[in-house]
Amino acid sequence: MAKIKKNKMSKDLKPFKFIDLFAGIGGFHIAMHENGGRCVFASEIDKFARQTYKHNFIKISPEIFENENFNEDITDPKLEYSKIPDFDILCAGFPCQPFSHAGLKKGFDDTRGTLFFNIKEIVKSKIEANKFNKKVKIPKILLLENVKGFKNHDKGNTFKRIKEVLNDLGYEVSAEVLNSKHFGVPQNRERIFIVAWHRDSVKSKEFKFPWGLDDNGEVIFEREKRDERAKIINVGSILLSQEELEALEKRDKKTYTISEKLWAGHQRRRVEHAQKGNGFGYSSFNEGSPYTSTISARYYKDGSEILIEQNNIPERPNRPRKLHPKEAARLQGYPIDSWFEIPVSDNQAYKQFGNSVSIPVVKTIASEIIKQLLND
Ligand SMILES: C[S@@+](CC[C@H](N)C(=O)[O-])C[C@H]1O[C@@H](n2cnc3c(N)ncnc32)[C@H](O)[C@@H]1O
Repeated sequence: MAKIKKNKMSKDLKPFKFIDLFAGIGGFHIAMHENGGRCVFASEIDKFARQTYKHNFIKISPEIFENENFNEDITDPKLEYSKIPDFDILCAGFPCQPFSHAGLKKGFDDTRGTLFFNIKEIVKSKIEANKFNKKVKIPKILLLENVKGFKNHDKGNTFKRIKEVLNDLGYEVSAEVLNSKHFGVPQNRERIFIVAWHRDSVKSKEFKFPWGLDDNGEVIFEREKRDERAKIINVGSILLSQEELEALEKRDKKTYTISEKLWAGHQRRRVEHAQKGNGFGYSSFNEGSPYTSTISARYYKDGSEILIEQNNIPERPNRPRKLHPKEAARLQGYPIDSWFEIPVSDNQAYKQFGNSVSIPVVKTIASEIIKQLLND
């Protein structure tokens, strides 16, 4: 197995601790680890995501597995939030749920029953404990991720309420929608990132979001320059060569080419969609395409969002194929060609990569958080 990249600590950077909530397969863990962070607690409920997480992170963060700090259900009443080890940064790509309006009107806690409530309660328990014991650390930064539409979810009420709750806890909040295609991976994936910093523990008054990376890996800070300056990349950069693909298909006795029946169905639906004037049905790409569409957790079902063209490729059928799980990993920037491994079925792997964050995006945000907010 290839060596895991050790987190190179620059002399100027202070070591920091983070927790990884709704951890999936650890997109945040990789990003924080590569920026010098140490994971002290993680939480993930899905059996198969836990399998992938443990398989990979036992090598770099063995303590969380030894010290029972790899929690399953963050809503488990048996979990005492006060016992979560102190941390500087909280990471969470949390599921999006509306808050109750009734709660708001009647003075109930309207976030109760949502998973954001649990994030809030973890932070609150640290802030409360700090009032009595100054040795307990107040979390300095929260890094949250969600789908692009989150800002408009429930007519903007969900986002508004989250901001209010974080403000009330003592945090400044900044949020932007970033696109993975500007960070060196050929995928059109827009996600909202929310960065919150504790106003009494962090000096900075603002956070300048990174909007992309250029050819030299330099951060682009001007939103309007990202299309012109972002590193040019194409889908070919994440595809296996024909020889590699065929060797894997032969080894695993399977094909990634979709069946004739599925292909006929995709084509039929495309015609139907066109007639109704709604959308395109399936989307196909080749190695020269600048980016694919967003890989989602449902990719395993029929692959319709990203099909790879195979027309006129010698010895390949004249129908498109799905991505190989290794290609899905590359599309999200996972270090699948060095140390990250997939211990689960193809279907679980597609779900896991589809649910994940794109590593280069989070790695860049993490690096800026450390420079701008943690080391100020
Ligand atoms: C959008 S995914 C986050 C993926 C992650 N950011 C990554 O990089 O892989 C949300 C995750 O939250 C998990 N989840 C949902 N409810 C949970 C709960 N009550 N406790 C812990 N994890 C939960 C889901 O299983 C899912 O893996």
